[in-house]
Amino acid sequence: MKITVIGTGYVGLVTGACLAEMGNHVLCLDVDPRKIEILLGGGIPIHEPGLLEIVRRNAQAGRLEFTTDIPRSVAHGTLQFIAVGTPPDEDGSADLQYVLAAARNIGRLMTDYKVVIDKSTVPVGTADKVRAAVRDELERRGLGDTAFSVVSNPEFLKEGAAVADFTRPDRVVVGVDDGDDRAAMLMRSLYAPFVRNRDRLLVMDIKSAEFTKYAANAMLATRISFMNELSRLAERLGADIEAVRIGIGSDPRIGTHFLYAGAGYGGSCFPKDVKALARTAAEAGLPSQMMGAVEAVNEAQKLVLAAKVVAAYGEDLRGRTFAVWGLAFKPNTDDMREAPSRVLLAELVRRGARVQAYDPVAAEEAARVLALDLGQHPAQAGIHFAASAQEALAGADALVIVTEWKEFRTPDFEQLAARLADRRVFDGRNLYEPAMMKSFGLRYESIGRPAV
Ligand code: NAD
Ligand code: UDX
Repeated sequence: MKITVIGTGYVGLVTGACLAEMGNHVLCLDVDPRKIEILLGGGIPIHEPGLLEIVRRNAQAGRLEFTTDIPRSVAHGTLQFIAVGTPPDEDGSADLQYVLAAARNIGRLMTDYKVVIDKSTVPVGTADKVRAAVRDELERRGLGDTAFSVVSNPEFLKEGAAVADFTRPDRVVVGVDDGDDRAAMLMRSLYAPFVRNRDRLLVMDIKSAEFTKYAANAMLATRISFMNELSRLAERLGADIEAVRIGIGSDPRIGTHFLYAGAGYGGSCFPKDVKALARTAAEAGLPSQMMGAVEAVNEAQKLVLAAKVVAAYGEDLRGRTFAVWGLAFKPNTDDMREAPSRVLLAELVRRGARVQAYDPVAAEEAARVLALDLGQHPAQAGIHFAASAQEALAGADALVIVTEWKEFRTPDFEQLAARLADRRVFDGRNLYEPAMMKSFGLRYESIGRPAV
């Protein structure tokens, strides 16, 4: 099939590459010429395991192309995926300007039947707005009778595992208008190679499809905030949240997955989708009790590591040096959006500390966003980037771990103890056994477990 993907970010690029891999002819459009230049040069603008190989293979085969040329992109695909950003507006609602701009471009230039597919995460009712935008542009051109379909096809991939999630999905949700058999058939055949088990392709009405995406992310964020709140209580009571996680998760109705207390959730989805759902609920006259609480717990959780450091060293951190391992909002990505490390670093340098930070892939992106957060170059604020986890430890008083990259899981503990002046580790991801850390002479504080 001929497919256009509008927006070549995390979701658009993965979607385009994986659809090309199945033999489709995909053209990816972006308004950011820098991204398209990188892609045309044989690279990819993000870190995502396994993606570069698929992009290169399909680009070389001529099935995957990249452009900034809007008329070409509209002419190319019968299926037009909209995968642009939907960032939070000032009031928390999803900002639809990029989605609607993409829809208008399609209406302004299309000459034959198109399926306009909302892949971006968008509030219930957005498909109607997309339809109205396309229709409006067609009518301006006197082509009001031109047929097109609007479909909702929210994306559930996780960064760091995006290729696997897209190619072996738990489910694919497709929302179509009642009676729009043509669009339903096209979507079914497009996804058939990915959902051999046909039960995994869920076709429903458009509003339910749009709502499903928010409900899923809100449920997952709620689990995390719930565990984070319990972790603080566990610490106060002397219980171990890891034992509790396994204890409750053994009940299949709960399950042990995605139940880890930590440094707070970040990323491009949970924070904004929780806010947007709260906004939708308020606008519908049914304000959500839960979404505000989920968000408030998370904001507080992002401060927990800094609070532990302050409890140990006092409010004034001048003259102290902290090694920080992990900056990305989760492992296997360079994405710094809403990363808990940003809150930690701002707190440390505000109190006068020096920071030696290390992340396997996110340092460059971290330097960019920290400069914006702090209003100055990170080095001027006292943040230095180390080339390795070991280098970050040199001359540090203590280590703070924010992101659970695999390479942090089994460090040389003797060397760790020898290098840290205070032999102190604050672990925001519960990577190590407290008793083992103690046996190496380390003072160890983690999340929701007794300090040793
Ligand atoms: P992103 O910021 O990485 O990429 C969006 C891209 O769209 C940017 O490159 C931007 O330049 C481009 N763009 C904006 N307006 C455009 C236009 N009119 N025409 C062409 N390109 C345009 O965003 P993302 O993380 O890929 O997220 C995209 C959407 O998918 C969001 O709604 C998000 O909530 C949703 N989503 C994201 C994830 C994730 O893990 N990142 C997962 C599921 C769903
Ligand atoms: C999320 C959803 O999982 C995905 O389905 C959706 O399409 C996009 O949003 P993503 O943001 O890429 O994906 O990462 P995810 O693995 O969900 O982690 C989000 C945040 O939650 C991270 O900061 C992670 O550290 C945190 N988290 C996750 C926890 O604190 N505890 C957990 O048990 C799991």
